[in-house]
Amino acid sequence: MRMYDVIEKKRDGGELTNEEIDFFVNGYVSGDVTDYQAAALCMAIFYKGMNARETARLTMDMAHSGDMMDLSGIKGIKVDKHSTGGVGDKTTLVLAPIVASLGVPVAKMSGRGLGHTGGTLDKLESIPGLSIDIDLNRFFEIVNTVGCAVVGQTGNLVPADKKLYALRDVTATVDSIPLIASSIMSKKIAAGADKILLDVKCGSGAFMKTPEDAIRLAQAMVEIGEEVGRTTVALITDMGRPLGNAIGNALEVIEACDTLKGVAPEDLTETCIELAANMLFLAGKASLEECRDLARDQIDNGEAFVKLHEMVEAQGGDSRALDDYSLFAQPKVSREVRATESGWVFTMDTERTGIASVALGAGRATKEDAIDPAAGIMLAAKTGAYLKKGDLMATLYAADEARLDEGERILREAYELREEEPAPIPHFFARVSRDGVDRLA
Ligand code: URA
Repeated sequence: MRMYDVIEKKRDGGELTNEEIDFFVNGYVSGDVTDYQAAALCMAIFYKGMNARETARLTMDMAHSGDMMDLSGIKGIKVDKHSTGGVGDKTTLVLAPIVASLGVPVAKMSGRGLGHTGGTLDKLESIPGLSIDIDLNRFFEIVNTVGCAVVGQTGNLVPADKKLYALRDVTATVDSIPLIASSIMSKKIAAGADKILLDVKCGSGAFMKTPEDAIRLAQAMVEIGEEVGRTTVALITDMGRPLGNAIGNALEVIEACDTLKGVAPEDLTETCIELAANMLFLAGKASLEECRDLARDQIDNGEAFVKLHEMVEAQGGDSRALDDYSLFAQPKVSREVRATESGWVFTMDTERTGIASVALGAGRATKEDAIDPAAGIMLAAKTGAYLKKGDLMATLYAADEARLDEGERILREAYELREEEPAPIPHFFARVSRDGVDRLA
């Protein structure tokens, strides 16, 4: 078989056989298929797509390209949650303790931020002393005793995705439904959970800009999960504006703590409750409606916050920081950004808010860049707010004035003000499961 023929077949709209897909994935991981050939095939897939069988085969080949986790050492039904990536998305830090405090184990391997999106590992590492490098035995021990742990990837999971994702990132082939679906589902399948909840983000800060595209991506992933015997549900949630008000690592951990104390922005709380309820439902705890109440109760009675304390301590962190926010790294400089005209915030380019936070030091332009845990943005106004000239839009935090200048310039571009009031934005657009698509908005 020749890679040339595989590329040509897909370029001309053909359907790849299982053997051709195996040849590509195995060859790319071993080095027999070059980066330029893999990039050409990704571009052909970007334009011509893949059917369900091709996407499922690609996913399973990728999943089996490295170690497959065996979570049988953890008691109970393991439900994993994965977000397709967004700005201000700190939901894992809220969900894991809510779900674990109700007896459902959460054994989560999270990722770092890249590009305009943040990563849970970077957020967690802003907690003084906390380690995300935990070996497998200790990881299992923490989940079995505390109920939840959020760590970096252990073992050699899905090397095919590591290579392919880095390649797609620099060849404009990220936002393709079969490529995103196979990338995410290969990692979820290799990570070993029994059930999978997907948070598919939709809007200006997400890879999928419209609910229709997000639903198509969700359907592709649900189909793959069900085909390999892992019940999979996807919620399509809003990323047309940042989630909550905090963007940046320590700022987001603090906002997650506030959520567990019951004092967070409404969009963040509602999104966390809905995701937690779906995880509990997948674990067979109760009906979806009852699971919503259970999740809310764990915030109201403080048990979820206690669980976060326990998890942080088990991972070596100083849990006093969760109550005394002055123990987090502090920013050297800050600046208030105020409206230069009056009007409704009509839309936000959420991707630009993420880019502004990276410019402030909260994210990386390349994998090697160091992160400033204290840097970021506290938004005071999002889409739907009315601003009078001089009102506070956001407060920026960074290590120096030059970063504040750049962050402010980019953040201002993210706001579109108009005389007209925008229509309210739903938090949820749809729920996709093997039973079909439930439209929620
Ligand atoms: N997240 C992933 O893990 N992979 C993608 O392709 C896109 C988002």
